[in-house]
Amino acid sequence: MGLPWDFHPLDGERVHLDLVRDDDFDALYALQSDPEVCRFLLFEPRSRDEVQKVLERDAGNRRLAESGDFVQPAIRDGSGELLGTVLLRIESAADRTAEIGWMLRPAAQGKGYAREAAALLLDLAFGELELHRVIAELDPRNAASAALCRRLEMRHEAHHLENLWLKGEWTDTETYAILDREWRSPA
Ligand SMILES: CC(C)(COP(=O)(O)OP(=O)(O)OC[C@H]1O[C@@H](n2cnc3c(N)ncnc32)[C@H](O)[C@@H]1OP(=O)(O)O)[C@@H](O)C(=O)NCCC(=O)NCCS
Repeated sequence: MGLPWDFHPLDGERVHLDLVRDDDFDALYALQSDPEVCRFLLFEPRSRDEVQKVLERDAGNRRLAESGDFVQPAIRDGSGELLGTVLLRIESAADRTAEIGWMLRPAAQGKGYAREAAALLLDLAFGELELHRVIAELDPRNAASAALCRRLEMRHEAHHLENLWLKGEWTDTETYAILDREWRSPA
């Protein structure tokens, strides 16, 4: 199949992924305005206006075709409640490489939900989308995110020293990666 690809919901055992919608505003605002959640993210805690813009953007972002295109669906539990979001962004369409990302509400952390949601995206990436490589980039101080990469059996590929001036300080970045032939779906 490959690119272009139009979003459709993805179902796991405990979570399902679908696009954010208007009635997610309160949960999305709670997530993206939380200083603990944002601590190692590229952005500062967001205002209501900023979250509203993100919601409108992500609700309509459904096609992956070219480099830079992304989808950022909600991670929902069985009742439909938004637990967090995951990101899949085409880094290079020519090189069939994407970036993956994740954030969970604090109450939903430590339960394996991010792992299940990320596994759904990796199944998608290496299945329907026929991608070759998926990367994750994170602040090395973000132990929970690094542990998640390792649980997904992503390889630690690089540690960039002070490559970002972020939130008033030089910040390192670690890159984790996995290839299509390395991905073993837990499903
Ligand atoms: C990064 C982040 C998404 C990781 O979330 P998480 O809940 O730790 O990750 P998982 O979904 O894989 O959950 C794993 C934990 O659940 C536990 N768990 C409980 N039940 C489980 C189950 N059925 N299956 C798998 N794991 C389970 C695991 O043992 C593990 O706990 P441990 O870390 O104490 O060993 C989360 O910390 C977060 O949202 N942080 C803020 C935003 C952020 O920094 N995002 C990343 C930017 S790079």
